[in-house]
Amino acid sequence: MAILIQIGEFHFQEIWRDGFLAIDPNLDLRIWPDVDNPDDIEAVVVWHHVQGSLTAFPNLKVICNLGAGVEAIFKDPDLPVGVPIARVVDPRLTRSMAEYVVLHVLRYHRHFAETQQFQAGKQWRYIAPDDAAATTIGFLGLGELGLFAADKVRAMGFKVAGWSRSAKSIDGVATFHGADELTPFLQSLKMLVCLLPLTEQTTGIVNARMLADLPDDSYFINAGRGQQVVDADLLAALDSGKLSGATLDVFHTEPLPDDHAYWGHPKVTITPHNAADSFPEDVCPQILENIKGVLSGKPAKNVVEAGRGY
Ligand code: NAP
Ligand code: GLV
Repeated sequence: MAILIQIGEFHFQEIWRDGFLAIDPNLDLRIWPDVDNPDDIEAVVVWHHVQGSLTAFPNLKVICNLGAGVEAIFKDPDLPVGVPIARVVDPRLTRSMAEYVVLHVLRYHRHFAETQQFQAGKQWRYIAPDDAAATTIGFLGLGELGLFAADKVRAMGFKVAGWSRSAKSIDGVATFHGADELTPFLQSLKMLVCLLPLTEQTTGIVNARMLADLPDDSYFINAGRGQQVVDADLLAALDSGKLSGATLDVFHTEPLPDDHAYWGHPKVTITPHNAADSFPEDVCPQILENIKGVLSGKPAKNVVEAGRGY
């Protein structure tokens, strides 16, 4: 069995190679572009791979993505047919995302940005926090990440609502699904958290129409993907006062270009796509187990579907 590692940014490839070799020093690993004989490759481990490059391996049995979001794989119009695609579902990544969401929900809820400004001016000023029990946090996406983060926010006493593609019934969460239920979902929220995968349906979903359905003075947190937001519409909503602020972890172009309006915007908090990461020590074991399982005839775990794009 030979495994090919192909990661968009070359300098990371060695870190992942070392992560796999730490588990099994005898693994036959090939590091893109040094494939040697393409017939040897039975599994690929990818992150932003070169489009069209995966059809070169006639014996490929599984494609493993190094992260949770798989849009970079499905962007490839030339994927090998019938080869399962697995993504990362990892407890540490899931916990990190919940930390990120809780941090930014509380930061807004407890008026932390204003408090820091008051400190800078040596002002002893008190702002009463709203009652969490009267504050609804809405999650676009109730998957591995959205559901776990929603649960943590709910544990602090907030009301929680969530929107997904399919109908769900979740204790303590007001659930909505599909295009018809998007407006009623949005209308009750104080904060909106986006944890959707990037697909054809979710591209540009956070646009003027959606933002208009939010109550005035609400807050937006995006840790899904930048392409889900129409930047001009978000900026207009911030400037008009419709939104009181936004925390953004993901952007159309990363790193965020120096001249982007978000950088200097007084209502925007920027983080460098670090809400939740994959680390070799956590993720290599599950990927290797998955590969070994597939090669011994078991179905791949954490499989995504081309038909729905996630
Ligand atoms: P997931 O388990 O696949 O969950 C996706 C959720 O989105 C599901 O609830 C799904 O609905 C819903 N959804 C998908 N398409 C929809 C649509 N058209 N309309 C309504 N709901 C839709 O994914 P996850 O593991 O939670 O990850 C979500 C995303 O987070 C990833 O794809 C990635 O882009 C992003 N992410 C970001 C970071 C970061 O550091 N910023 C880190 C990791 C992941 P159903 O439940 O009905 O299927
Ligand atoms: C990170 O953004 C991921 O998709 O894992």
